[in-house]
Order: sequence, then C-alpha cells, then structure tokens
Amino acid sequence: MSNQNIYDNQDFFNGYHSLRSSKDNNYNDLLEQPAMADMLPDLTGKKVLDLGCGYGHNCLDFIRNGADRVVGLDISEKMLEVARNESNDVKIEYINMSMTEISSITERFDFVYSSLAFHYIEDFSKLIKDSYRLLNSGGYLLYSQEHPIITATIDDKGHFNQDETGNCVSYTFSNYNQAGRREIHWYVDGVIKYHRPMGELLTTIAKAGFILEEVCEPTPKDWAVRKLPSIKKEFLKPCFLIVKAKRQ
Ligand SMILES: C[S@@+](CC[C@H](N)C(=O)[O-])C[C@H]1O[C@@H](n2cnc3c(N)ncnc32)[C@H](O)[C@@H]1O
Repeated sequence: MSNQNIYDNQDFFNGYHSLRSSKDNNYNDLLEQPAMADMLPDLTGKKVLDLGCGYGHNCLDFIRNGADRVVGLDISEKMLEVARNESNDVKIEYINMSMTEISSITERFDFVYSSLAFHYIEDFSKLIKDSYRLLNSGGYLLYSQEHPIITATIDDKGHFNQDETGNCVSYTFSNYNQAGRREIHWYVDGVIKYHRPMGELLTTIAKAGFILEEVCEPTPKDWAVRKLPSIKKEFLKPCFLIVKAKRQ
C-alpha cells in the first residue's frame, strides 16, 4: 500500500505554509484547533503520540500542558525540519515515519492525538486498531479529519450555493455513500485522500474496542466570525469531524 508524501512537494509545502502563516483566515486556527483544545484530556505526566504532527506546534503545547514525553511522527521530512526548528524541546522526539507503520512501535502512550491527517490514510481500520494497541488502558485517542461531507464528492466539486444577494444558503455534495479514494487539486494536482461515511468511521472506532466519548462537528465561535465574517457559512454544514475515544 503506497503512502503519498505530498507535504514534501515544494509547491504544496509553500502553499500550505502560507495558509498556516495567515493566522486570521485559516480554518485550522479559527475552527478546528480551538475545538481540539477544548477536548484535550488531562496531560499532566502523560506520554503522548502525535500522528502527522506537521510543524510540531501541538507537540510543544502538550509539553506546556504538563506532558512528560511527546513523540511527534510525520511522513514529511520538510514538515519535521520546521518542527525541529520551531517546536524543539528536550521532552519531544520527532520521528520520520508513516502512520501506516506504527504497528512497529513498541512504546505505549497515554494519549494518541492527530490533527487533520487521518483522511490521508487508506486503511482506516488498521490505523484505529494500531492506535488502540499503542495506548495504555484508560488512554485517549483524539483525532480530527476533514468532515465526510467535504471528502465525499468524487469530482472535487462540492460547493456552496448563493442567493441573489451573494449569501451562501446551501451546500451541494455527492457520492457520500461511496467510500474510497479521492484525488483533488489543493495547491497542486493529484492530492490523494480517502472518503469514509460517518457510520463507517464511528463503527470502525467502536469495533476496535474504543468507548466513544465525544463526537464534535465544530461551529465558528463569535470571536472567529468577528475575525473572518465569511466563516459564518460553516453553520450550513460542518467541515471538520473530531472524535474523542477512550481505550477500555
Ligand atoms: C494538514 S497537516 C496537519 C499537521 C499538524 N497535525 C497540524 O495540525 O498542524 C497533515 C500532516 O499529516 C502528515 N501526513 C500525511 N500522511 C501521513 C502518513 N501516511 N504518515 C504520517 N504523516 C502523514 C503530513 O505530512 C502533514 O504534516
């Protein structure tokens, strides 16, 4: 099974970097990250694994929140280079590895975290089972992904519809019940991600043995709407899915 490493593509890397640098208009900082932060378990003295850690900003936050050790794992050496420069701490170890290989890790963790990376993985069931096995009992998995409404449409043409005054009033998507590979244009052609309907996602997590504690489809808070008024349209449909689950 091949893993795409699109974040090491220089054009993609540059596009993604400029998106994440513009703090006032990216959905990560306005919508997804605040919701994830609200759902964090107590990290005092805990061991954390961050799958698809990117720039490592969350790894650093986990240490600030009291974690004893954080392993940040990413397939992209370019992302890890930023992480090692911007999010360096003696308690953090960065590993260049694909999430598809985590069954080879022998260490166990109290918390497995992943922000916006699981939709890049083809075999979701294996990823969830591997995450379960890497957790100590009572440990938590907290992950976010693009919402299935966003990943669904095969021709990458999911879109908002506007009324005559230009207000977004609805959202069109399709192919929802056709799980599988999607190829989209995002900074570059050929970015591959995987669509799975909500039922399949949640059932896979439950069948692995996890207790589902919280399922969140975050909506913009007032402060986010003040920063970026157009984000109001995200009340029409969710763009992220966040799941918090506990190992028995
Ligand atoms: C949208 S970025 C999110 C980065 C970080 N989690 C954050 O919230 O800022 C997705 C990350 O997942 C990583 N990724 C994609 N496929 C991966 C794989 N198979 N194994 C490990 N990391 C992967 C990418 O290299 C990228 O750093």
